Amino acid sequence: MRKLRIALTKGRLEKQTVALFQKMGLDCTELINKGRRLILPVGDYEVVLAKAADVITYVEHGVCDIGVVGKDTIVENGKSFYEVCDLELGKCHFCLAGKAGEDFYSGYNVKRIATKYPNVTKAFFEGKGMDVKIIKIEGSVELAPLLELSDAIVDIVETGTTLKENGLEVYEKIMPISARVIVNTAGMKLRRAEIDDFLDRIEAVKREADV
Ligand code: PRP
Repeated sequence: MRKLRIALTKGRLEKQTVALFQKMGLDCTELINKGRRLILPVGDYEVVLAKAADVITYVEHGVCDIGVVGKDTIVENGKSFYEVCDLELGKCHFCLAGKAGEDFYSGYNVKRIATKYPNVTKAFFEGKGMDVKIIKIEGSVELAPLLELSDAIVDIVETGTTLKENGLEVYEKIMPISARVIVNTAGMKLRRAEIDDFLDRIEAVKREADV
């Protein structure tokens, strides 16, 4: 049987996840010195580095047993997997934001909202019974209101620096976000003992952080 395979989200969450793995007593030497390699041995596991949405795809299809991915990507992409643990890393918020000092809710025109998260945005405004036009942007969403493409954005805000340095501000917090551990549904039955062992090691680190 192949090693238990864990998909990690590259970038923003990567450093904190590696630090967690080290605290779990896993040898992360190969992962830290990965160069351009995408599949690395970490302790008894095999770690795969992927973009957030792809972490979900690999876990859903069962080619990875476990994934570490932000709640933002989970809410946006739906879930046919188990979400088993909140790592409490990469904490940030989904926010509605726009140019500082403007009253977003004033006026009767249909507002234009730029976002990387159209499903989250749709659900948020449906909850308010408000009709909006959603414009999908792939990154640096803050540009959209600055270029007058949109009236506001729905995006993740961590430190708030990107907003501040671009003359934008949070209008409304939508929901808190943090990194989650997800598990393939079939794998949860077939490799239960190994998965439980991995999760127990995470819980031990979390408990230690609490004392
Ligand atoms: C995210 C997000 C904001 C920024 C928020 O973008 O979309 O732009 O980080 O972080 P801050 O509140 O700490 O400034 P990311 O860096 O992931 O890149 P992207 O915009 O290209 O998606």
